[in-house]
Amino acid sequence: MITRVFLAEAIINLLSKNYKYFHFSEYDLEFDIDGYLEIFNNKLKNNKALLINYNESIYRTDIFSFEFNEFNKIFPIINSWKEYSKYSITHDDNIFENWFTKFIESNKNTFNFLNIDFNIVNKLTQSDTVWNNYSRIPLDFSDAPFVFHEDLLRKNGFDKIITALYNNTKKDNIIVEIGVSRYINNISDGDSTSIWSWFISKYGGSYFGCDISNNSINTCKQILLNTIKENDNSINVVLTKDNGLDYLKKFNKKIDLLYLDTIDWVEGTFESEKFHLDLVLASIDKISVGGFVMFDDTFNLENYNGKAGLAIPYLLSLKNFMCIYKGYQFIFRRDY
Ligand SMILES: C[S@@+](CC[C@H](N)C(=O)[O-])C[C@H]1O[C@@H](n2cnc3c(N)ncnc32)[C@H](O)[C@@H]1O
Repeated sequence: MITRVFLAEAIINLLSKNYKYFHFSEYDLEFDIDGYLEIFNNKLKNNKALLINYNESIYRTDIFSFEFNEFNKIFPIINSWKEYSKYSITHDDNIFENWFTKFIESNKNTFNFLNIDFNIVNKLTQSDTVWNNYSRIPLDFSDAPFVFHEDLLRKNGFDKIITALYNNTKKDNIIVEIGVSRYINNISDGDSTSIWSWFISKYGGSYFGCDISNNSINTCKQILLNTIKENDNSINVVLTKDNGLDYLKKFNKKIDLLYLDTIDWVEGTFESEKFHLDLVLASIDKISVGGFVMFDDTFNLENYNGKAGLAIPYLLSLKNFMCIYKGYQFIFRRDY
C-alpha cells in the first residue's frame, strides 16, 4: 500500500510541472476510457476532480482525475508508514480508500468535485455485496434448462447473459422480466423464466416478473415453484400481474438485467416495436451501471425487424450503452 502512495506521489510530482490535470488508473482496470474522458471533458466544468463511487460512502482510489494544484493542496506528502498511519485510518479491507476519502471529505468545503457512478471492472476492489470467488460454486451449465443443451436459436444469447451476470460477482443481481413464460418447457418462446430462476437459485439474485395475462402468471408461478427452493441462494422472487409499462414506471430498484419479451411482433405493424421502445424509455435510468437490457426476437440483423426494431437503434445511439451481443437476441450493457 505504501509503495502505491510513493509511486503516485513520484509520478504526480514529475508531471505537475507541465500539465494542469492528471488521470490516475491502475493497470488492471477494465473500463470505457472514451466514456470516462467524455465525462471529464464535458461535465467537469468548474470542478477540480472527477471521483468514482466505490460504495455508498467512499471513493475509488484505482481511478480518479485531479487538478494538480488541488491535489497537492489536499493530500499530504507521506514518507513513511508511521506518518501514513498517524492519520487515524480504520483498519479494514479498504484501508487506502478510507484514507483517500477522509482527505477529500475534510476538504469538501474548500473545493468542488464531480462524483459519479461508472462501470469499472476489477475483481479485487468490489464492495462487500459481491461474491468472493473462493466462496461460490463455479459457473456450470450441466443442470441448466434445456435451452443450454441443444444448439437452439437462443443458446448463445442466454449463455452470454448468464456468464456476464455470473462474472459481475454481485450477490443480488436484480433480474426483471417483462413478458414471462406462458407455457411450461416452451422452448419455442425461449423458456426464459426457467433460466432466470435456475440462475438465482444456484448463484444468487432476485427475480421480478411481470405479465399482463393471468394465464402466463399462473404458468410462471408453477415454473418458479419447481425451481426455487427454501434454502437455495435466491433472495427475492416476486410475480406481478400488470401492464409492463405501468410496472416499470413504478419499479423502484436498480435493475441488473431487464429482459423484454412481450407483445409478439407482426410484420407491417409497429405495436410491438413501439411498446418495447416505451418499456426501455420508462426504465433506462433504472438500469444499474454495469447492468444489462436484453431483447428477444430480432428476425433481421440488417434492419432489426422484430420486437426491438425501434429500441435497438435508440440504444445504439446512446454513448453509455454498449451492444455486447447481436443475434436473434440483443444484449446492451450500461457503462456509465
Ligand atoms: C412471448 S411471451 C414471453 C415468453 C417468455 N419470455 C419465454 O421466454 O418463455 C410474451 C408474454 O408477454 C405478455 N405480454 C403481452 N403484452 C404485455 C404487456 N403489455 N405487459 C406485460 N406483458 C405482456 C404475454 O401475456 C405473454 O405472456
